[in-house]
Amino acid sequence: MADTVTMDKIVSICRRRGFVFPSSEIYGGLGSTFDYGHYGVLLKNNIRARWVEAMVQERDDIVLIDSAIILHPRVWEASGHVEGFTDPLVDCRTCKLRFRADQLQESRCGRKPSKRPGEHSECDLTEPRQFNLMFETTVGPVQEAGSRAFLRPETAQGIFINFKNVLQLARRRPPFGIAQVGKSFRNEITPGNFLFRVREFEQMEMEFFVPPADAERWYRYWIEARFDWYLRYGLRRSRLRVREHGPEERSHYSQGTSDIEYEYPIGWSELEGVANRGDYDLTRHAEFSGTRLEYVGPEDTERYVPHVIEPAVSIERIVVAMLVDAYDEEEVAGRERTVLRLHPAIAPVKAAVLPLIAKDGGMVEKARSLYEELRAAHVVEYDEGGAIGRRYRRQDEIGTPFAFTVDEQTLADDTVTIRERDSLVQERLAIAQVAARLADELRTPWTTPKGD
Ligand code: GAP
Repeated sequence: MADTVTMDKIVSICRRRGFVFPSSEIYGGLGSTFDYGHYGVLLKNNIRARWVEAMVQERDDIVLIDSAIILHPRVWEASGHVEGFTDPLVDCRTCKLRFRADQLQESRCGRKPSKRPGEHSECDLTEPRQFNLMFETTVGPVQEAGSRAFLRPETAQGIFINFKNVLQLARRRPPFGIAQVGKSFRNEITPGNFLFRVREFEQMEMEFFVPPADAERWYRYWIEARFDWYLRYGLRRSRLRVREHGPEERSHYSQGTSDIEYEYPIGWSELEGVANRGDYDLTRHAEFSGTRLEYVGPEDTERYVPHVIEPAVSIERIVVAMLVDAYDEEEVAGRERTVLRLHPAIAPVKAAVLPLIAKDGGMVEKARSLYEELRAAHVVEYDEGGAIGRRYRRQDEIGTPFAFTVDEQTLADDTVTIRERDSLVQERLAIAQVAARLADELRTPWTTPKGD
């Protein structure tokens, strides 16, 4: 199968099938903000659910938390974000565009023909200045000193400031983790590439607290565990790699960072980061808040500030990687079909139930009754509109792995066809066995037919 996917094709299928729309469209849109339609929401729900399953449900050493988005402003002083969460920015006085000073080589100027900023004779760039990426807001009815607050740029800090609560109330001792999923906000200077870099995104972060001597081992462990999670949910191994940051590239808190990169249509780029944050965060919050944040063993046998290993990713980057990896165009019996070969556990809709002829009352009745049965356990769709081929193609485009079709034979012997999205194999089975078969199929480990 030829790999023909581009970001434009992903944007187009998302729009056509109602996964993702540009936000505020009737007002002309707001750059790099997106709204999710029905299938987009289901897709994100599945990604989040698989992450929580792997992080929490399948282990006994990680608990969940859901902290506030607006935290005490001192949190962001302690974390280093007020001082250091900045990008160097240059403005062009001529075309009024803004660029990241460290990415001028890859940026395009607003003049025609488009060149790099600074290359046209009319370009008039300012000196670089530091621009803080946090969105500011005010708390309370008046803007006055002390009312300034921030929308969180990462979910991690909401975890660190709850370390003591969890340690005491969930009766944990290192190694243990706290996981959080929620919206984060960054006033990115150069957002773009669809959902890849947006100003509002949903992070899934986990802070794993370990004895200092074990930090390196757990850092390696989490790089591997997170890499394997992507393989488990169908991404091709050849499109994934781990890239370790050099010392000059690391964030202020990091003692080691590795990116799990995916080969997006824009090239190899960060999908997820795994960082060894050392004791930076707990030490800083202890200093700024005056609250001791450490682990004390029974009867005071041991006492230390745990080190932290952090896998951090956004659902948006996973959505793009999974759609890119799943997207396929092929010719079947002389006709083009576009198909999303999504892992069944990730696919928004698990099965479609289709009466072959919508005007046939008997078929409709049987199909509706099968649909009612299946939807008790899964997201399934009933569709009777249009030719059967077109209905199959609609399901292929949203990645539905199975379709059950009720036809003349069903009326005679209570069997239906099951059509498999990737192989297009069709076989017959008894209606009474459909629910068990679907549950079975969804439990079976799956690998992409696109190869490694
Ligand atoms: N707590 C650590 C942290 O936030 P980060 O590398 O800045 O580290 C973690 O972000 C992850 O969040 C990234 O690997 C990426 O998946 C996602 N992410 C960051 N900025 C994003 C943006 N503007 N749009 C979409 N996802 C973003």
